[in-house]
Amino acid sequence: MSRNKKTIVILHGSLRDNSSSAAVIRKAVQMIGDKANVILYKGTGQLPHFDDKAAIPAEVIAFRKLIFDADGILICTPEYVFGIPGTLKNALDWTVGSGEFDRKPTALITASSIGEKGHAALLHVLTAISCKLNDNTNLLISFIRSKINVEGEVTDATTVKEIESVTDALLRLMNEPVTC
Ligand SMILES: Cc1cc2nc3c(=O)[nH]c(=O)nc-3n(C[C@H](O)[C@H](O)[C@H](O)COP(=O)(O)O)c2cc1C
Repeated sequence: MSRNKKTIVILHGSLRDNSSSAAVIRKAVQMIGDKANVILYKGTGQLPHFDDKAAIPAEVIAFRKLIFDADGILICTPEYVFGIPGTLKNALDWTVGSGEFDRKPTALITASSIGEKGHAALLHVLTAISCKLNDNTNLLISFIRSKINVEGEVTDATTVKEIESVTDALLRLMNEPVTC
């Protein structure tokens, strides 16, 4: 990992390694290339349920630090039952009081069968926790399974271009001057 490059932390809303959204993440990582360091956070499923108590679990402290230290965040997720997957929402809930997402450049890709409601709900949450977003840093990919092949590669040319546009927009947002 280069110390001179900025770092993007990726949060995955699915716990399945061979999920459709994992295919989107692999394509996004390819698009980011050597323009940033990338850390794929794999601990979402191990975070305890959010509990607003005095003792903060060690996993949560480490997760909060990872987000705080990141220059940008990419969230890639399916929609589950018209909403945000519980593990991902739980992770975000742990940061509400401590504010790690405050002004953090963040991109959201929802990759799902339909995904509209989960995407809208998550954009609402990201706005509420004061992420730095714009119209170009979010993408809804519906019918995701028709856009990847059996090897788990995103094959739909339009979708590939859209993923590249979102990662480029996130990198631009990360490189904007910080305003107070
Ligand atoms: C429990 C469950 C609930 C789901 N609910 C929705 C839904 O509300 N909307 C939708 O678009 N897809 C829904 N799906 C389908 C997912 O979008 C689809 O399975 C997707 O490929 C899952 O993402 P993944 O492959 O990245 O794990 C659901 C899937 C599961 C397993």
